[in-house]
Amino acid sequence: MSVIIIDDSPVNVMLMQGLARQVHGGDIHAFTNPLEAMTCMPGEDPDLILVDYMMPEIDGLEVIARLRADPRLVDTPIVMVTTADQRAVRIKALEEGATDFITKPIDATEFKARMRNLLRLKDAARLLRGRADELAREVAKATKELADREEEIILRLSRAAEYRDSETGMHILRMAHYSRIIAEGLGCDPDYVNDLWRAAPMHDVGKIAVPDAILLKPGRFTPEERVEMERHTRFGQEILGGSQAPLIKLASEIAGSHHERWDGKGYPLGLSGTDIPLSGRIAAVADVFDALTSERPYKKPWSLEQARAYLVTERGQHFDPACVDAFFAGWARVLEIHATNQDIPQAA
Ligand code: C2E
Ligand code: SIN
Ligand code: SIN
Ligand code: SIN
Ligand code: FE
Ligand code: FE
Repeated sequence: MSVIIIDDSPVNVMLMQGLARQVHGGDIHAFTNPLEAMTCMPGEDPDLILVDYMMPEIDGLEVIARLRADPRLVDTPIVMVTTADQRAVRIKALEEGATDFITKPIDATEFKARMRNLLRLKDAARLLRGRADELAREVAKATKELADREEEIILRLSRAAEYRDSETGMHILRMAHYSRIIAEGLGCDPDYVNDLWRAAPMHDVGKIAVPDAILLKPGRFTPEERVEMERHTRFGQEILGGSQAPLIKLASEIAGSHHERWDGKGYPLGLSGTDIPLSGRIAAVADVFDALTSERPYKKPWSLEQARAYLVTERGQHFDPACVDAFFAGWARVLEIHATNQDIPQAA
């Protein structure tokens, strides 16, 4: 809370100090050397700065330009003190960021009236800024709470699907990790990678609507059973469909497209190539790789090398070649995730 006066004339300084004291209760710092003022500018948030135009070494315009470049002084009124005939200087001063002018010789009544107005302006700016900071904090907190809740719902929904299936939480976690590795390898935007990582666990929620007798069958499907099972993609897309939330939209897209194949022989739509949403192309590699290396009621787990060989064979058939390449580019991380996210064996 201070007023700063920068004027090379000690007489002017004394005059302005005296007048300022009549309208301002705080500190008043005066500098007759402008260069000193620039280096000794108090660290706090000054209420008002008065700058004389004609000074040796550095003129008032330059002083104002330098003060305005300081981000701490964006809200601080800066007043230039000039003689009435310096019209061009005044215009230049406005361009440099001066808030107002005071004309020399200084008229006491005018000086005090202007100071009062500018100090009030500064108070209002400080109040507004405080309120804006407070609002920003509140918004950030509410946003964080929403994101946390969203994440919780996702986890619960994914868990519900797990109960209907032999797949485990660890499968879902590994699959999400693999999806992230691929998306990062493709150079996707970090926000997209993050959303994909959070949405991927929901890819099989549609299995909730597939009968147990099919889903938990301890052997290979008949063609009829296969048709029933394939409906889990549509179910999932619909369960998650119609949301305004970008994350749930992406989850719906993944649920609907993770069994499409690059060559067009997948389901539910038989889309091919880049007609398949990128999220579905990524999830396909992540999901199948993890399914192959996991035990299922209908199959034994494959070795990592067997699963890797499968991706090589199916590169450009089942899978988007770019996604397979990105997966292999992150192979060291794949191995680490596979090793550190194994299921704890269940008691019979
Ligand atoms: P999942 O077990 O998570 O398998 C996901 C995908 O990984 C499969 O999609 C398939 O593309 C691939 N995959 C898994 N195991 C093998 C395998 O042994 N060989 C080959 N070549 N690929 C494999 P898909 O086939 O569309 O199946 C979707 C889901 O339907 C499977 O998820 C699983 O829950 C279920 N399912 C598929 N086939 C059978 C089956 O014969 N018996 C039973 N009980 N469930 C099956
Ligand atoms: C890309 O892989 O081409 C970028 C995809 C995205 O960030 O949406
Ligand atoms: C892309 O980024 O490769 C396109 C995304 C899409 O196909 O949906
Ligand atoms: C399957 O559809 O069961 C296997 C996927 C594949 O052939 O590549
Ligand atoms: Fe699936
Ligand atoms: Fe899966």
